[in-house]
Amino acid sequence: MTLRLGVLISGRGSNFQAIATEIQSGDLDASIGVVISNEGNAPGLDLAGKMGIPAIGIDPQRFDSRDAYEAEVVAQLRAHEVEWVVLAGYMKLVGRTLLNAFKHRIINIHPSLLPSFKGLDAQKQALEYGVKVSGCTVHIVTAKMDDGPILGQRVVPVFEDDTVDSLTQRILVQEHQLLPEVIQSIANQQFIKKR
Ligand code: GRF
Repeated sequence: MTLRLGVLISGRGSNFQAIATEIQSGDLDASIGVVISNEGNAPGLDLAGKMGIPAIGIDPQRFDSRDAYEAEVVAQLRAHEVEWVVLAGYMKLVGRTLLNAFKHRIINIHPSLLPSFKGLDAQKQALEYGVKVSGCTVHIVTAKMDDGPILGQRVVPVFEDDTVDSLTQRILVQEHQLLPEVIQSIANQQFIKKR
């Protein structure tokens, strides 16, 4: 069963790239219909373009409301026949228009072991708190930020001499494995459901 994905980003796009690479190598039963960024100059959009994947910047400031902005995002996702939405470094809170359009079919990756350290600078929060392990989480998106049922987690150690950069890098390596793994398990479940 091939899962048709839409990926929402705001920046670098390394998690998008990890998904795309796994798809290209035949290790993930999915396809990416479109990559959408709320930041027109996100490097991830260029990456997608170079891979021949439709890449669209949608500037929220062009719209009167979050609903109107999200209605355009939903229209683009539908136009590209997207079934599941992946938030991969998408730095905006998801509102009701997007949530309702893809009910329980939006996932997010966050660089901490949720429910600890929600929000911005999760790795810095973890270091400042002094935890000895951290990691990353993939979860179903709800109206609350970095909340919702957990689908997968990976753990990394936190060392005495870690900096935000070194911890971020260690977590990122795990993010790039966890996200495609969770998407594959969703694809497997959809396959079972449809049989
Ligand atoms: C990742 O750390 C992800 O967990 C967080 O934002 C970062 C995005 O990185 N939500 P990238 O754009 O995928 O490289």
